Amino acid sequence: MSENFGVSTRGPSRHGRYAASMEPKLAYWTGATLNMATLVLLAFAGIRRARDGQADRHRRLMLLAASLVVAFVLSYVLKLLALGREDLEAWSNGAIWTLRFHETCVLVMLTSGGLALRRGLALSRTRAANKDANLPSPLPGEIERHGRIGRIAVCAASLGLLSACAVLAGMYQRAAL
Ligand code: HEM
Repeated sequence: MSENFGVSTRGPSRHGRYAASMEPKLAYWTGATLNMATLVLLAFAGIRRARDGQADRHRRLMLLAASLVVAFVLSYVLKLLALGREDLEAWSNGAIWTLRFHETCVLVMLTSGGLALRRGLALSRTRAANKDANLPSPLPGEIERHGRIGRIAVCAASLGLLSACAVLAGMYQRAAL
């Protein structure tokens, strides 16, 4: 009769090996989600400052949020080089669709956020964001266009954060942590 009571003696279980190989990636995605939560909070605080007419504080908070986006993109390139892509074979269909939705949100956030930043930087050379009387007034409708594309970026970032939490929860579940 077998002495191991049916337990495999051929190294760690498939599940255990999967959990172990997930660890650095899990740590990376946990950090990335916290980074995204921080930048969304900064963006909401920035919008509040804009609505209070504090353009300078708004600019600083939005630049800080934008620098966290840049930090994420750079870290993602390093993660791809060091750890590679995720192995989606173990993912359910629902998890893959959640990931695709999340990636779309991030893409919309990057493009609309980039445009909002460009328009915002143009506004900072006008009296809209600076009280210097020598500066020109902003072009008619420029503030509204900046605000509109900025709201799209912050909406996409918020949906991106919610879907990131769902994707991360799935990763923890699959790793059985
Ligand atoms: C970095 C330079 C930026 C400058 C100088 C700037 C400047 C401004 C100004 C002057 C306003 C109008 C405030 C008012 O109505 O009196 C505004 C509004 C707004 N900005 Fe920016 N902005 C910048 C970056 C950004 C970025 C990167 C985003 C988003 C990704 C953004 C999102 C918004 C939004 C959503 C509003 C409208 C707030 C509302 O709902 O009333 N801004 N910004």
